[in-house]
Amino acid sequence: MRATADFAALRSREFARLDRTRTAYLDYAGAALYPESLVRHEARRLSSTVFGNPHSESGPSLASTAAMERARQLTLEFVNADPGDYEVIFTANATGAIRILAESFPFARGSRLVLTSDNHNSVNGLRTPARRAGATVEYVPLAADLRSASIEPWLRTARAPSLVAFPAQSNFSGVHHPLAWVAEAQRRGYRVLLDAAAYIPTSRLDLTATPADFVALSYYKIFGYPTGVGALIVRKDASATLARQYFAGGTVQFASVQNDVARLVDGPGAFEDGTVNFLAMPAVCDGLCWINRLVIDRIAAHVRAMTSTLLDALRDLGDRVIVYGPRDMHERGGVVAFNVIRGGRAVPYEDVEHLARARSVSIRGGCFCNPGAAERAFDIDAASAAACYRDDFSVSRFRRCLGGSAVGALRASVGVATEPRDIDRLHDLLIDIP
Ligand SMILES: Cc1ncc(COP(=O)(O)O)c(C=O)c1O
Repeated sequence: MRATADFAALRSREFARLDRTRTAYLDYAGAALYPESLVRHEARRLSSTVFGNPHSESGPSLASTAAMERARQLTLEFVNADPGDYEVIFTANATGAIRILAESFPFARGSRLVLTSDNHNSVNGLRTPARRAGATVEYVPLAADLRSASIEPWLRTARAPSLVAFPAQSNFSGVHHPLAWVAEAQRRGYRVLLDAAAYIPTSRLDLTATPADFVALSYYKIFGYPTGVGALIVRKDASATLARQYFAGGTVQFASVQNDVARLVDGPGAFEDGTVNFLAMPAVCDGLCWINRLVIDRIAAHVRAMTSTLLDALRDLGDRVIVYGPRDMHERGGVVAFNVIRGGRAVPYEDVEHLARARSVSIRGGCFCNPGAAERAFDIDAASAAACYRDDFSVSRFRRCLGGSAVGALRASVGVATEPRDIDRLHDLLIDIP
């Protein structure tokens, strides 16, 4: 059976709520949708099993610990990471994973932090602690197609622990940045944070082939449920270099008030402050098994087909739509940013969002927490931007100050449950924009 036919059957089996509610959901980069069997199974399990707070020896406590350890193991298998080399630290989300580095990476005077201009703000935020510790922060610029030709010129020799951070897939343009940058940066003595939040839901990541030091992800972006759980997958030799500033319940082997001592546990627990979202762990296991049964390469093929359909639909609108980033299928994922053009100008994205909401077409508007890609896409130069957000910020004031040019875009993103009829609904909507 052709992959697309399989996915049509999956849509009616697991995502019937989309058609029942007449929702054309095109916001998979925001969140994946959960398959209905996953939450049905979860409801049955929660009403028939007793899970307790882990970190103890009772039956309910051990049931939670077992689910957590299985979720770690399945996560490592999902990215083909050797458990001898890697470990999984559970966090609240991808942002929480990156924040561990913000708080613990040993930046010092002489360190370098090299970021692609295309980065989510959750990665951009690393620049604050890096600078505070005396590191130099540099951004690799983007070309007009929202790719960076090379990071090599920015990989100057560092005199202290240094970090390169980039997204495997852009959440703005869908660009796949070269995974070869990981080894290139490591050869120059850098540690590498690979932000896999947008990439991993629909592309195979193989950490044996691409041994990034740190990988951040959110599980809800892969299989929709549960929210509130992410992970930092970390090479053990890299985690040994992290310097925690804080200890907490759950992270210590031993602490003494009178002797002012706190000794961290070995392994990922040293970074898991307080009680992990233990009730979510069985569902994380189920979600990973569900994806494995679908096979990530088949998901990737389906998403490629839907992305191609989406790009064709936008192309069909000719110069009434501008697409930011690549317009072809080369090295990209299922995320497309665009604006509607009328009278030679971008229609304010909020107006398109408004109509989309009225027609139950779920797309997203703004700059998607990715200011570097947005500034490049809309050709906003640093001096004009600085002049325009000096006072109180609002999108409409910012746009007016920049002479009415685009300050945000629409983003459509496809996933496991997307069918061509969802894309037709977007196409029809865009035609109707006056
Ligand atoms: C590439 C990328 N990185 C990081 C994040 C942050 O993820 P979260 O909000 O789940 O922490 C996102 C969220 O959209 C993303 O797309």
